Amino acid sequence: MSSRSPSPEFSPLAIGEDLTPLPQYKAASTTTIDFSNLLETPLKLHEDLTSGCGGQLWPAGMVLGHHMLRYHGESLRNARILELGAGGGLVGLGVALKFKLDHPIYISDQENMIDLMRKNITLNGLESRVKELVLSWGGPLPAEVLKEKPNIILAADCVYFEPAFPLLLATLEELLDLCKEAVIYFCFKKRRKADMHFIKNAKKKFIVEELEDEDRQTFSREALFLYTFKRKQ
Ligand SMILES: C[S@@+](CC[C@H](N)C(=O)[O-])C[C@H]1O[C@@H](n2cnc3c(N)ncnc32)[C@H](O)[C@@H]1O
Repeated sequence: MSSRSPSPEFSPLAIGEDLTPLPQYKAASTTTIDFSNLLETPLKLHEDLTSGCGGQLWPAGMVLGHHMLRYHGESLRNARILELGAGGGLVGLGVALKFKLDHPIYISDQENMIDLMRKNITLNGLESRVKELVLSWGGPLPAEVLKEKPNIILAADCVYFEPAFPLLLATLEELLDLCKEAVIYFCFKKRRKADMHFIKNAKKKFIVEELEDEDRQTFSREALFLYTFKRKQ
């Protein structure tokens, strides 16, 4: 299946006016991440930018990963979890490694990221607990999502390319229509003024709340924001 939406290849030129340095190009490699000791068994993450811009660690993924591992637990046991724009799968894989969950987690992205997601699922022996999925924002929701009706949605560093903003908003809206009590955990880094338009538009559609987190002072200084989005009644 080809991707439906115009998302960019990783390119410093595509993300101008930065407040903080961009991630650097680096050669493909496998790292381990334990989210400040929150994971007993560290996550193995293969990074490879040839798959696309999600093929490496992004700062909001680290913030959201820490948040989910630190503040969630029993509440997720029964959850039906979907990650959007998962890249290599950092957040979803971290959650799957940490918690015993009754349902498999779906980590989703565009077609070009599928091989990397699958590789990282296998690297961590999570084949039975995490499934990779093509989900292009603005396109139709995959059959697995329509069936599962996820009630926890994770999205990290998905705000970085303005033409994709309406597509992402449309998918979030559709997911909140599909499961009315779903909660979207949304973390992003402000790189351009336009990024705040995304939140402005999200506030028109959803209940948007900033989340408490012990690292908030630190990540706020890096222009990182952590929210939940819920359906307006
Ligand atoms: C900056 S990366 C973040 C990756 C990961 N969430 C993290 O925090 O490390 C953004 C991700 O969104 C995905 N993406 C961009 N546009 C998309 C679209 N239209 N539909 C689905 N995924 C998209 C990219 O492929 C990429 O993996």
